[in-house]
Amino acid sequence: MTRPSTPSRSHRLRRLVLLMAGVLAGGAGLVVTGSADAGTTLGAAAAEKGRYYGAAVAAGRLGDSTYAGVLNREFNSVTAENEMKWDATEPSQGRFTYTNGDRILNHARANGKSVRGHALLWHAQQPPWAQSLSGTALRNAAINHVTQVATYYRGKIHSWDVVNEAFADGNSGGRRDSNLQRTGNDWIEAAFRAARAADPAAKLCYNDYNTDGINAKSTGIYNMVRDFKARGVPIDCVGLQSHLGTTIDSTYQANIQRFADLGVDVQITELDVQQGGNQANIFATVTRACLAVPRCTGITVWGVRDCDSWRTGANPLLFDCAGNKKAAYTAVLDALNAGGTTTPPGSTTPPPGSTTPPPGSTTPPPGSTTPPPAGGCTASVSMNAWTGGFVATVRVSAATAISGWTVTVALPAGTAVTGSWSTRAGGTTGTVAFGNVDYNGRIAAGGSTEFGFQGTGTPPAGTPGCSAA
Ligand code: XIL
Repeated sequence: MTRPSTPSRSHRLRRLVLLMAGVLAGGAGLVVTGSADAGTTLGAAAAEKGRYYGAAVAAGRLGDSTYAGVLNREFNSVTAENEMKWDATEPSQGRFTYTNGDRILNHARANGKSVRGHALLWHAQQPPWAQSLSGTALRNAAINHVTQVATYYRGKIHSWDVVNEAFADGNSGGRRDSNLQRTGNDWIEAAFRAARAADPAAKLCYNDYNTDGINAKSTGIYNMVRDFKARGVPIDCVGLQSHLGTTIDSTYQANIQRFADLGVDVQITELDVQQGGNQANIFATVTRACLAVPRCTGITVWGVRDCDSWRTGANPLLFDCAGNKKAAYTAVLDALNAGGTTTPPGSTTPPPGSTTPPPGSTTPPPGSTTPPPAGGCTASVSMNAWTGGFVATVRVSAATAISGWTVTVALPAGTAVTGSWSTRAGGTTGTVAFGNVDYNGRIAAGGSTEFGFQGTGTPPAGTPGCSAA
């Protein structure tokens, strides 16, 4: 498997910085700083690797303080476990209810977490009225559902599972029979087009299970994604649910890689692993596989504690029923923190005040990279704008390790910030300072993290300023 390009670049930069620090220090004694910048929660550790770590959340459990405590501390992304599904959001045709979806969304946004939308169209958990439709009536109702729900949540969803579980199990590699499939094979691309039109900022994912390795089903999906990319059907990501048993396919990482190679992101969307086998190792293997593929952008576990899981008796999650961390939790955290967070042995740290090169120290040879100033950060923006509004996704990058950041954005007159995620916004108009939240302030050398905001009016232009703590 090819090594990820970003970590190896950052390792080279780190080594160069440390080498030069050693030169400046005149080769003073060896100091291994250990894991000073290792994340202490799943969200923080994943953010240091430019990824998110999320959990499926049930609105009805948010009032449980143990549950909410673990959720708020550990995870920086949430997925509504049931509350944004078709039966929940459109219980009768044309009447939309977002009460429980909003409870999850608002809880997430108030705590600086991004939100995965799940799921716009699926053969399961359809409201009874949709189950009884067919043909053009069902197709129109389905596309209207996509449009209405994606429009309601426009600008607030990191990624949508636009279509869930449309492929058949087994060796056919083809579509699953369903009322939606019987409206015509193009129902999936029609759904993606409607979702893009409704929410141009959301990443649009196809999500499925039994796709946790290279097999007939994942190959069928691979061929669909390749075809979509070739024909310009808007698709940004593939979700691998990863409801796993006591083994993991040896091609798990290779499968992620082949989707990434098509030019889509991969997200592990519903991870849970049967307890009683190699649970901790399997969780660690999934984590390492995602970290090894730069386009694998995040992992979501399907619930918080074992007793919250839909897999009754499997105890497939990272926390026990009392909210205690399991061995699987430690395995995941260690895997997230491995590599790139510990100063390599043998490196040296300059003593305080040793800024003057000692006599005889050498000037770096021509063409060598000058180490950036300590504590610096840079910000870059990817903008999705439409008439009257925009969503900005901002990447904060740190050349050397930092422990906090503030990004300053100058908004044009008449433009206002209406929402933000993974940041605390210091205002809504004029020049707005966006600060880090608890879990994404610390960025390892060469690492980055993302936050976002949406607004009304004309999008800001230019590169925002970044200052680090
Ligand atoms: C499950 C929920 O966890 C349960 O609470 C519900 O009763 C059924 O659905 N694949 C999916 C998820 O995409 O939506 C499913 O969630 C689990 C399988």
